[in-house]
Amino acid sequence: MIIFQASSKTFYLHGKTSSYVIWIDPNGYPVHLHYGGRIAEDDLTYFDMRTRPVSFSPIPPDAENWFSLDIAGQEYGTYAQGDFRTPSCILTRDDGDSASRFHYESHRVFSGAPELSGLPHARGGGETLELTLCDVLSGTRVTLFYTVYEALDILVRSACIAAGKQPVTLKRADSFCVDLEEGDYETICLHGRHCAERTPERAPLAHGTYTVSSSRGASSHQMNPFLVLAKPACTEDRGEAFGALLVYSGSFSLTAEKSQAGTVRLCGGIDPLNFSWRLEAGERFYTPQAVLCRTEEGLGGLSRRYADFLRGYLLPPAWVHAPRPVVVNNWEATYFDFTNEKLFALADEAAALGVDTLVLDDGWFGKRNDDTSGLGDWFVNEEKLQGGLSAVIAHCKARGLKFGLWFEPEMVSEDSELYRLHPDWAIGKAEVSRCRGRNQLVLDMTRPEIVDHVYERMADLLKKNEISYVKWDMNRHISEFYSPKLAPARQGEFAHRYILGVYSLAERLQRSFPHVFFEGCSGGGGRFDAGMLYYFPQYWTSDDTDAFERCKIQWGTSYSYPMSAMSCHVSVCPNHQTGRTTPFSTRGAVASLGAFGYELALGNLTAEEKELVRAQIRSYRAVEPLIQTGDLYRISDPFASNLFCVAVVSKDGREGYVVGMQIHAVPADTDHRLRLKGLREDARYEIAELGLTLHGSTLMRAGVLKPSLPDFTSFVWHLKQVG
Ligand code: DGJ
Repeated sequence: MIIFQASSKTFYLHGKTSSYVIWIDPNGYPVHLHYGGRIAEDDLTYFDMRTRPVSFSPIPPDAENWFSLDIAGQEYGTYAQGDFRTPSCILTRDDGDSASRFHYESHRVFSGAPELSGLPHARGGGETLELTLCDVLSGTRVTLFYTVYEALDILVRSACIAAGKQPVTLKRADSFCVDLEEGDYETICLHGRHCAERTPERAPLAHGTYTVSSSRGASSHQMNPFLVLAKPACTEDRGEAFGALLVYSGSFSLTAEKSQAGTVRLCGGIDPLNFSWRLEAGERFYTPQAVLCRTEEGLGGLSRRYADFLRGYLLPPAWVHAPRPVVVNNWEATYFDFTNEKLFALADEAAALGVDTLVLDDGWFGKRNDDTSGLGDWFVNEEKLQGGLSAVIAHCKARGLKFGLWFEPEMVSEDSELYRLHPDWAIGKAEVSRCRGRNQLVLDMTRPEIVDHVYERMADLLKKNEISYVKWDMNRHISEFYSPKLAPARQGEFAHRYILGVYSLAERLQRSFPHVFFEGCSGGGGRFDAGMLYYFPQYWTSDDTDAFERCKIQWGTSYSYPMSAMSCHVSVCPNHQTGRTTPFSTRGAVASLGAFGYELALGNLTAEEKELVRAQIRSYRAVEPLIQTGDLYRISDPFASNLFCVAVVSKDGREGYVVGMQIHAVPADTDHRLRLKGLREDARYEIAELGLTLHGSTLMRAGVLKPSLPDFTSFVWHLKQVG
């Protein structure tokens, strides 16, 4: 709910349990007053104390009252007029002056959410405050958007910067800024690396700035565009936490800055390193959205709100709740070394075991038999695949299997027809600054003619073949942010223009082929972010398919993303990434906590394992609606304990699905209780696997005994309300 109190010039943005309050002070500056528990619409202008100068505070020339930007809480941090904290935008005029002071100009409240053309964004719902500020020094207008999703305590923010009569160059253009009240906070980020994405790390926030960022041209494995500020007492189940999640897939930065007054500025958006954007008179720039969330229900409550928001307002609506294809992907089964016979055999086994889609991964095109060649040549390699894709598709179809295909649309190999024809299509300067990564170069997606070309190639294949699934991969980061087609003064636009090109390609393909299911991937989960999830309902979570490593990766990913967005496959043991052997049932149980599939030579399985595959698919289909719509409760942390355990509970509390894994066996481990979460206190639940029927209150307070199990062994319990 959004309320404007004209008498005090105050905006109240209410969530179910939170309020966010903005005041237009008598000087015309928008001042942030409160982001915390829900409050009444009382006059809060007694907080004007927060806008008074302290020693050494500069006072802006137009502040008639006793005012400084040094301490005042800001909605969009200004630059070079007395606010020394991280600025939200830097607007440089042609005379080199970058000072700016934003005054309130107008506002509008409307039902629904803004549509950001060319950028992924929340799909409607909510109620929006549009607050327009004008920089009195340059005439540039900044419109701040705040969309309130009241039931979820979610606030989606973004900014539109419009040059006035004077051109300006943006040197920074954040999506949001909020100055939280003074206090102790701890930061939680999701850092990682290839095969170990999204590891939660919590640390006290000291004075100064703490920034999580990626300057790799992609949101990256190394750091996710998500940052939490939690009160020190905040636990998994209770306590106050603020989250900021960017709907963006390019280089980003999120900053928490503890000021001299102990207040904390949380802000971020596009990574300012390597960024600048020229706005000629009258031109506009839209920042990506940031999804803010505040809760007192701990980190679990924060995650459930993010999952509900992403499922309800961001993921592609046609797919979000549709049954997902249970695939077998040939990558770990064959890598590049496949033939018709191998694929046919995989398809035969898959069909017999109840799998519904065969996904043909890397290596089907150009002259690609390893990772040194072929990218960009999206023509089937008929020497390798006799009869082309149609032969494989026909074989699948005859067995009732659908067919999926891998692409890496943004890349080019130097050893490819495309590169020989267009050596200038790769980014960077040939022979001067082009770094290779996985032996490949990156196509200049800032250029519409290149995006068009990739679209045409992919569209041609999708039109001519019965392809129901596309895996879109991206296997290197951008090192040289340079396009010879951009003017020297506009090279700072490269990184953002690149990701806009990627989004435009994804958008076009999805519009043209609405029946095709798209899965995102970037060397595993390297670009697993809310921007990509707008186009791709699921994302390959990690190249690490080891069941124990996946417990950790999926645990971390669940901090800000729904389970149904995580693509999870059962693979072979010894595992190809870790060499570890885990039981087949454990691999199935862990993969069932996401969009389920297989990634191994099904023909090599024992008869017993094949029976398990059939049972796993049946059991996954039974819990799929829960995975797609239920609430996730993290119960035992695989990073901090010897046990992984999570529960998914249906929204009506009638059903639950608990999956656990003993990491290392412990002798005489007889009284290890697992206290379940999220159940209805007075409902009685049957847990068939344990032969128990107990009240929700008993299951949550007294708990159940964890079974004593060997290393890496899992347990799975289904809870059904019986009274
Ligand atoms: C990286 C992906 O994460 C893998 O699943 C596979 O598709 C390879 N790329 C293919 O090159």
